[in-house]
Amino acid sequence: MTPDPLTIPEEFASALLLARDRLGIFAHQILWYLEVGSTNDIAGAMADRGAAEGLVVLADRQTAGRGRLGRSWVSPSGAGIYVSVVLRPSTTVATLLTIAAGVAIAEGITSATGLAPHVKWPNDVHVSGRKLAGILAEGAVGHVVLGIGINVQSAAYPADVASRATSIEAELSRPVDRGLVLAECLVALASRYRELQDGRGRRVVDAWRSRAASMLGRRVEWESAGIQQVGLAENIDDDGALIVKVGASTQKVRSGEVRWL
Ligand code: BTN
Repeated sequence: MTPDPLTIPEEFASALLLARDRLGIFAHQILWYLEVGSTNDIAGAMADRGAAEGLVVLADRQTAGRGRLGRSWVSPSGAGIYVSVVLRPSTTVATLLTIAAGVAIAEGITSATGLAPHVKWPNDVHVSGRKLAGILAEGAVGHVVLGIGINVQSAAYPADVASRATSIEAELSRPVDRGLVLAECLVALASRYRELQDGRGRRVVDAWRSRAASMLGRRVEWESAGIQQVGLAENIDDDGALIVKVGASTQKVRSGEVRWL
């Protein structure tokens, strides 16, 4: 059973109110929970029951936050932003959705804080070589739940995560307004999603490329049909697949994970 949402705390409410006219599809229903297993589960259950596109589910902490490829997402109280949105994209829009989400979250963080993160294929958000935010897209019939986790304050990450993670406050050495970061990320996501719907996916891909400059041209390793492959990441194509040069040939990686060497 889905718990009842609570009143959105001031920290988020005032920033969301100020951004209201720019929130687009995310302006209408924002639900706040103190503690959930995973915001993606709450949003997914509501989408299954017919929730409208644009529903936002936000929690202070998650007890079973999850990441891509079966990993967990450490979600302590107050340290991060844990949010999921319900989208109902067409097949064409869905193709570039995770690319658009990565760009939007990087842009939102820049607008709110001045920090300029990079995107790492397919949709990780990095700064100084460490992960700052991650996106988990989970699709079902008729909807996609986009779950976004942003590290605002450093937390007690498990040892394997600690060496690869950072937070906005650690990078800036100052406190950061979680509400403002959330509001600007939702504004950017609404705007990039709109571009996809309007057939302007090319702009999204170009924005991704300019945020990925430091990642392109680097050696990557990935697995394809059980075989470990190594190549040079060259670019993404217009459908968001990673183009990798392997010897004299070119390959496209469409899903899964690449390791940057
Ligand atoms: C990743 O980089 O592996 C994706 C991490 C996604 C984490 C967010 S936090 C909000 C939403 N709820 C979840 O359980 N996961 C996503």
